[in-house]
Amino acid sequence: MFIHVVADNPAKLAVVRAALERQHELTSELLDGPSVQRGQCHALVVNVDLRTFENVAALKKKIASLGHMRKRVFILHQTIYLSIAQAYALGATRVLTGPLNQDELLSALADRMGPGAPATAATNNEAGAASVGATAIASMFAAVANGVSIDVEGTKSAGDKITDHIAEKGLSDWLAIVRRHHEGTYQHCLLVTGVAVDFGLSLGLARRDLERLYSAAMFHDLGKATIPLAILDKPGRLDAKERVIMESHPALGYDALKGNENISFEVLDAVRHHHEYLDGSGYPDGLCAENISDVVRILTISDIFSALIEDRRYSRPMSREEAYGILCRMQGKLEKALVASFRPVALNR
Ligand SMILES: [Fe+2]
Ligand SMILES: [Fe+2]
Repeated sequence: MFIHVVADNPAKLAVVRAALERQHELTSELLDGPSVQRGQCHALVVNVDLRTFENVAALKKKIASLGHMRKRVFILHQTIYLSIAQAYALGATRVLTGPLNQDELLSALADRMGPGAPATAATNNEAGAASVGATAIASMFAAVANGVSIDVEGTKSAGDKITDHIAEKGLSDWLAIVRRHHEGTYQHCLLVTGVAVDFGLSLGLARRDLERLYSAAMFHDLGKATIPLAILDKPGRLDAKERVIMESHPALGYDALKGNENISFEVLDAVRHHHEYLDGSGYPDGLCAENISDVVRILTISDIFSALIEDRRYSRPMSREEAYGILCRMQGKLEKALVASFRPVALNR
């Protein structure tokens, strides 16, 4: 594969080149250096500190002159949301955090779609709604992490694009695109939004109700913006203390959104209660069936299903059949009739 590397200093350029040069054809340049002739490149690797305004501005210019490459892997040495959000806003399709790991970088560049090829207009369009969605989610997370106001309209309009994409091309197409292009919390939020929209479409919801549903899905895990990544991305089980922190995210998300007049009561309620179960065993309020709305019930099923089929760094994604089987066994917690209606979404659509 032909890969182009951009870094903000010679040492960082050399590290990436050393990791890739045995297996790939490389060209490279420094962020503040002259552009080199690149020809046809399949992927871009960026190893730049995104905490400074100057670097972000310079990289934006550089990327604009590079043309579109289907894979754009950003290496960030600081696991902070603002930089991650910035990377996605600059068009990253994958963000690797922490010290550079050669295997991780090679696997991020490995093409699951078959032989590597430069992006075509079709693949650009294909990933369009997903990119818009990821950018909206990333900027919303960055806003919460930095205590600034959220762009509610931008998030809703991204939800609208996702809905159009799924109505036209179906859920399977969406799942494949999102799993191929995004990771972690962004992948999760995009999957939940897609699954919830498709579930809503299959139930014949009116556009207004669909809007509520996709807004709830886009916002549902926003409280994770302030949960440390060491807990969010922990490969193994959480200990008791970590679990308490993790389980604070619905209330944190609710608190971040509650003063916003553009967010309806139903959406706020769904953000706070998407981990409640009909039998009262959920959190944070231990609600029982009569207090759990339809939007929440639909969102909870979509959330659990999406979490099970995610493509995680540390474990293989579960098949849609296996994931649906788990939902069916959660008796008493989820609405039985709704889980039955979810079957065609989970398995066929
Ligand atoms: Fe959640
Ligand atoms: Fe979730």
